[in-house]
Amino acid sequence: MASSSSVLVIFLLSTVLIISIMPNVNAQRNHSKSNLISPGSSLSPHGYNLSISSWLSSSGRFAFGFYPQGNGFAVGIRLLNPPNNTVVWTANRDDPPVSSNSTLKLTGDGLLLRSEGGQEIPITNGSNLLETSAISNASTAAAAMLDSGNFVLYDETFFVIWESFDFPTDTILGGQDLLASMGLISSASVADHSSGRFSLEMQDDGNLVAYPPNSSSPYLATMTFGSYQLSLNLSGFLVLSSQSSGLTTQVLANGSYHHPQDNKTTIYRATLDVDGIFRLYLHNFLMSGSPEGAVKAIWSALQDPCDVKGICGFNSYCEVVMQKKAAEVHCKCYPGFVYNNASQMSLGCYHNFTVGGCTGNEEPRLRYKVAALDNTSWSNHPYSVTPIQNKEDCGDSCLGDCNCWAVLYTDADCRKYKLPLLYGKTTSSISSKGFIKVLLPRNMDSMPNNFPYLPKSPTVTESKNKSLILILAISLGSIAFLCSVFAISSFAIYMHRVHRYKKLLKHSSLALADQEYFTLQSFSYSELERATDGFKEEIGRGTFGAVYKGTLSVGSSNKTVAVKRLEKVVDEGVREFIAEMTTIGRTHHRNLIQLLGFCTEGSRKLLVYEYMSNGSLADLIFKAKSVHTSWKERVRLVFDVAKGVLYLHDECSVHIIHSNLKPQNVLLDHTWTANISDFGLARLVPNETKINSTGGEGGGAGTVEQLRRGYLAPEWQKNALISVKADIYSFGIVLLEILCCRRNIEVNVSTTDEIILSSWVSKCFAAGELDKLVEDDENVDLKTLERMVKVGLWCVQDDPALRPFMKNIILMLEGTMDIPVPPCPELPSLV
Ligand SMILES: *[C@@H]1O[C@H](CO)[C@@H](O)[C@H](O)[C@H]1NC(C)=O
Ligand SMILES: *[C@@H]1O[C@H](CO)[C@@H](O)[C@H](O)[C@H]1NC(C)=O
Ligand SMILES: *[C@@H]1O[C@H](CO)[C@@H](O)[C@H](O)[C@H]1NC(C)=O
Ligand SMILES: *[C@@H]1O[C@H](CO)[C@@H](O)[C@H](O)[C@H]1NC(C)=O
Ligand SMILES: *[C@@H]1O[C@H](CO)[C@@H](O)[C@H](O)[C@H]1NC(C)=O
Ligand SMILES: *[C@@H]1O[C@H](CO)[C@@H](O)[C@H](O)[C@H]1NC(C)=O
Ligand SMILES: *[C@@H]1O[C@H](CO)[C@@H](O)[C@H](O)[C@H]1NC(C)=O
Ligand SMILES: *[C@@H]1O[C@H](CO)[C@@H](O)[C@H](O)[C@H]1NC(C)=O
Ligand SMILES: *[C@@H]1O[C@H](CO)[C@@H](O)[C@H](O)[C@H]1NC(C)=O
Ligand SMILES: *[C@@H]1O[C@H](CO)[C@@H](O)[C@H](O)[C@H]1NC(C)=O
Ligand SMILES: *[C@@H]1O[C@H](CO)[C@@H](O)[C@H](O)[C@H]1NC(C)=O
Ligand SMILES: *[C@@H]1O[C@H](CO)[C@@H](O)[C@H](O)[C@H]1NC(C)=O
Repeated sequence: MASSSSVLVIFLLSTVLIISIMPNVNAQRNHSKSNLISPGSSLSPHGYNLSISSWLSSSGRFAFGFYPQGNGFAVGIRLLNPPNNTVVWTANRDDPPVSSNSTLKLTGDGLLLRSEGGQEIPITNGSNLLETSAISNASTAAAAMLDSGNFVLYDETFFVIWESFDFPTDTILGGQDLLASMGLISSASVADHSSGRFSLEMQDDGNLVAYPPNSSSPYLATMTFGSYQLSLNLSGFLVLSSQSSGLTTQVLANGSYHHPQDNKTTIYRATLDVDGIFRLYLHNFLMSGSPEGAVKAIWSALQDPCDVKGICGFNSYCEVVMQKKAAEVHCKCYPGFVYNNASQMSLGCYHNFTVGGCTGNEEPRLRYKVAALDNTSWSNHPYSVTPIQNKEDCGDSCLGDCNCWAVLYTDADCRKYKLPLLYGKTTSSISSKGFIKVLLPRNMDSMPNNFPYLPKSPTVTESKNKSLILILAISLGSIAFLCSVFAISSFAIYMHRVHRYKKLLKHSSLALADQEYFTLQSFSYSELERATDGFKEEIGRGTFGAVYKGTLSVGSSNKTVAVKRLEKVVDEGVREFIAEMTTIGRTHHRNLIQLLGFCTEGSRKLLVYEYMSNGSLADLIFKAKSVHTSWKERVRLVFDVAKGVLYLHDECSVHIIHSNLKPQNVLLDHTWTANISDFGLARLVPNETKINSTGGEGGGAGTVEQLRRGYLAPEWQKNALISVKADIYSFGIVLLEILCCRRNIEVNVSTTDEIILSSWVSKCFAAGELDKLVEDDENVDLKTLERMVKVGLWCVQDDPALRPFMKNIILMLEGTMDIPVPPCPELPSLV
């Protein structure tokens, strides 16, 4: 019964459909003439009357014109699908709403929006991707709202000179393509269609990628490389296609089975929604008014809304909460944090206590404890990863570390983090456990406490005095315990080192035993001579000597290495040399070149590094342009270098001043990741090539050559104390060089202003003409450029005290920290 009646319904519906289509076919063919809008026509938002405020497509489904927005009106295209209409395009979406007295008029110059004050704003400006200068000059002879949802302008020959499909906002419709380097930006909210927080880009490299706000770390990437475009076709397929090497397609979503392929009754739409998820929707006009509603999401790029990075702000985490059968996304502060704005929980949280740090001799365990959080994770990079067997020990290790604010325990690894915590989420499928450092409340009774605390912390129910005594007892006990552990381990380490040095002196090639920190190998000269085939292939030459390519056999496989033969180095004792190497060998960071081993035989000193197959940063950015010098890549390189320097300055066990930072010393590995080299060698340089300075820890070795190129901070010449701020200066210069793809000093330029990069950048910045710096590069994001230039100008300030520290530089580069307008640097003279 049921099935036969539904067959009947379908039959009736299709009959109705065919009947309704028949006359439409003619209208369709002729509509382009009959539905044309001619110059002189105008619209007004008055009275919400559709026929006065909008131009309709011939099907009546799409309307171009005014729609209510905030307390005024915006201009755009709506899909009329009662009861609710869907805005699919907005003109000048970030402009404020206009009043009900505005008018929209079609003229020979396109569409003009005349505001109440008489101001005229062009709506259909902007360059068509296929535009030639002839077309851009053409005057508008007609316009039309097409049934596809595309609003077009024609010239007299009926050539399309502008179309809304070329300027998508957050939506593409069936028949619309997203070409390379185009993108969608989500709306601010369901009711406000101005630019929101998330973006989806069809990148030049063929990858469709979604980014959180102010970040270059995507939460979605299709990993499709090649010259692709994204299309939503009329039968509901989202397809990535490539024209190179024949037409190949990859189907992202197949919406076809949801309804017979009939574009009279169904309209497909793909939107980057307010929550950052890209979804495919089906508007079904046969179902219009039915209880299920006419709109249905039939595919979504991500299932878990908490996978969208940036859905919750810094120091908060995302949780999906079931509420009345609907899943809701909640952003919650980590323990010890409060909302930046309690009425907008997605804006992140801040510590509501002043962070004392580890200034005094105060035992941190008297001040802090850790709060545990199950099934949680976040996305920062840890600054330390240590294998630890026990969860509680992981939490506890954070208490004893001044830099640590949170730890994650996963698979017997304990990862330590600094603040802010980014993109946190919690869900039962995550197995890692988090511990957050929180202040011990002075007054135990008023402890705000929704989280389970560790059993190791003093229990809350004790009276004040008792707990204080308990804390003291525990702390004194642990201090005594730690002291004895320290004493014992120091002795053990000492014995261990003595033993190790003895071994090293025998030139054995045994791996060093200090597994916990590093494995440095000691080689004999003849071994390295063999490995490099008698120092045959020189691959570079730096301040400290030549570098050769070599091959070492490790087990059964061969490993390519770079062997640096130190020339002109200070002839210091073997013991001192090994101590230096130990320091360098202990640095482990993905943006620092890894020292694998060394050789010291009399005056012969050689270092063995991992091999970097893609040459130096200087070779990359100062030579011909390639895909690896695209804007995105350059921004990534800036962060690579910054993170490497941050590690040297702040994060490794012995703080290292590089003092010789320049693009020649930044090498690129096979994945084009930047690796800083030549650090830690400063003390090995003899005095005649040094610029005199009193030197700080690890400093004291800027070279004459480096000064000539302009990488050296002015304090080197002034014989002033050298600090990490000298590296900041060099970093600033390298940063500007990467941004502009040119050397700091370039004589071959059109005006003398341009010779010194830092002064030219400063001039362009002051004049608001930063685009001059990157003239032939269209993909540059000017906002990011401005931010990075401001950072660069702060770094190259003459006064070291004005230059920011590396950790703040990274926050500023990321856009997490505001950057004041930099003062004009005192510029170096050319002589
Ligand atoms: C289109 O309209 C013109 C005049 O308005 C008419 O002569 C012509 O027959 C129409 N064409 C079709 C296919 O209906
Ligand atoms: C809308 O405007 C048209 C043309 O002025 C008029 O015929 C129609 O009655 C108006 N409709 C409403 C609901 O006011
Ligand atoms: C529109 O113009 C009329 C007459 O000039 C004025 O009374 C009215 O306040 C204006 N409306 C708005 C929303 O500005
Ligand atoms: C069109 O012009 C307006 C006002 O001049 C401007 O805000 C807008 O960005 C322009 N749009 C495009 C696509 O260039
Ligand atoms: C387009 O207009 C510009 C200035 O308005 C003019 O210089 C140029 O020659 C015009 N191009 C064509 C093809 O008419
Ligand atoms: C509907 O589909 C037909 C072919 O299936 C196509 O020719 C026509 O342009 C489509 N109409 C719209 C409004 O997209
Ligand atoms: C849409 O794309 C799918 C998959 O590539 C294809 O099978 C289908 O024929 C396409 N439909 C239209 C109307 O182009
Ligand atoms: C799309 O899905 C339908 C129904 O599941 C299936 O019949 C069709 O083959 C699919 N098309 C493609 C191109 O995958
Ligand atoms: C229409 O919008 C209202 C309020 O925005 C919402 O409650 C309702 O669910 C929507 N209806 C449909 C069918 O989407
Ligand atoms: C918090 O957000 C609300 C809602 O957007 C806003 O009205 C209020 O001004 C904000 N408060 C602060 C302190 O920024
Ligand atoms: C921190 O937040 C807690 C709970 O919201 C509150 O009781 C406490 O007074 C706050 N502390 C400060 C210093 O604001
Ligand atoms: C992104 O950066 C801009 C300016 O740097 C800032 O105004 C905005 O609040 C940031 N957005 C988020 C979500 O952090």
